[in-house]
Amino acid sequence: MSKFTMEDLVNYAKKWGFVYQGSEIYGGLANTWDYGPLGVELKKNLKTAWWKTFIQQSPYNVGLDSSILLNPDTWKASGHIDGFSDPLLDCKACNTRHRADKLIEEHAEEEIEVDGWSEEKLFEYINQNNVVCPNCGALNYTDIRKFNLMFKTTQGVVDDSKSDIYLRPETAQGIFLNFKNIERSMRLKLPFGIGQIGKSFRNEITPGNFIFRTREFEQMELEFFCQPNTELKWFDYWKKTSKEFLLKQGLSEENLRLKDHKPEQLSHYSNATTDIEYKFPWGFDELWGIASRTDYDLKQHQTLSGQTLTYHDQETNERYLPYVIEPSLGVERLFLSVLLESYKEETLADGETRINMKLPAHLAPYKVAVFPLIKKYHREKAEEIFTFISDFFPTTYDESGNIGKRYRRQDAIGTPFVITIDDDGRDNDIFTVRDRDTMEQVKLKKADLVPYLIKKTRYQ
Ligand code: GAP
Repeated sequence: MSKFTMEDLVNYAKKWGFVYQGSEIYGGLANTWDYGPLGVELKKNLKTAWWKTFIQQSPYNVGLDSSILLNPDTWKASGHIDGFSDPLLDCKACNTRHRADKLIEEHAEEEIEVDGWSEEKLFEYINQNNVVCPNCGALNYTDIRKFNLMFKTTQGVVDDSKSDIYLRPETAQGIFLNFKNIERSMRLKLPFGIGQIGKSFRNEITPGNFIFRTREFEQMELEFFCQPNTELKWFDYWKKTSKEFLLKQGLSEENLRLKDHKPEQLSHYSNATTDIEYKFPWGFDELWGIASRTDYDLKQHQTLSGQTLTYHDQETNERYLPYVIEPSLGVERLFLSVLLESYKEETLADGETRINMKLPAHLAPYKVAVFPLIKKYHREKAEEIFTFISDFFPTTYDESGNIGKRYRRQDAIGTPFVITIDDDGRDNDIFTVRDRDTMEQVKLKKADLVPYLIKKTRYQ
């Protein structure tokens, strides 16, 4: 478990240019976050790793980038207009708003499963177990009501209800809408998957825990289409692939757990669901949802659109709606877990301490930093090497302050390699490359720098 608290992480992320509070100069906008120069690189690297594993290297899957704004009938068919809501109640004493299920989970001393509970059951539990308002301590709530999480807006210039439109609360539905387009244009045969990465929006009642639950976030979703009756085999396959992916992003086995939903917790359309949970500073919580969704979504869209969405199986000459496995991961939750896991404070042999952001090299915002040992003597060569290396890798250059301080800065932001230019570099084109984690240094000729760094930083 990381010693890093959430407060430490928020401070670290701001100080080093990973994440800033949104709209800060206007006093902020609650629970919005902006990704700074290093944050945007880390986020991009996480998405690239996911895309490589789940799309480019998968023998089954292809990619998509569908619109955020979809025909509003999409959300009728998917069930989001009628059913995508959280149980909301207000404290009558202090007027704060709460999610009934979260109040219970946070109050209970032991882990409690409230998924699938009716509003009556939630309300009864809260009153019988004295689940008081976390803000003022009163036990004086309104009735629980359903609060739809979709952001509604209007399209076009006429502000009437006919042009109501929604910001998508998940990327998944854009995939279902394109199922037939992709099957036909790419001439795909089952099983195959369609993945996409993009923004989603939910008007969460209780956003919080830094970037863990926000109203605007990014998802990396795969909808994997297969023959009915093969779905549970594929469900296991994607659970395993997803867990392996997390281990490759540096998350450790002991901070991960797979939590299967019990039959009474399953959504009505699902015949199996697992959450991959990460051990955040407040305890295990959902990182990645993996659901076997049967043929529910395609069936709903087929009914409401009137378009045939069945697949023609040429081997059996049957037509059917494929079943679907959906692994759905939030970019920001992965970002958070990776930072928590990678942050290390170390005491060095000389008694000095350093922050070592031990990111896997493929995730590091900069792969390489270039330093002249002494500005006056080595700058020209260092600039030449910076230009050469930055053609191949995200690279930073630093010539200010003593060399020890410059190393510390790169360690703190996770740069895995530093090339230092000294007299040997300037005069003989032999360069010192320092490894962030071992702090060992190797001497390399200019021609060997790029192959060495590719080998060390490549994601495979
Ligand atoms: N299409 C299925 C779906 O959206 P979900 O469990 O609601 O399922 C999937 O969301 C993942 O998206 C979650 O496991 C989480 O990583 C991320 N996510 C969901 N809501 C989020 C929020 N408000 N803020 C940040 N990430 C969120």
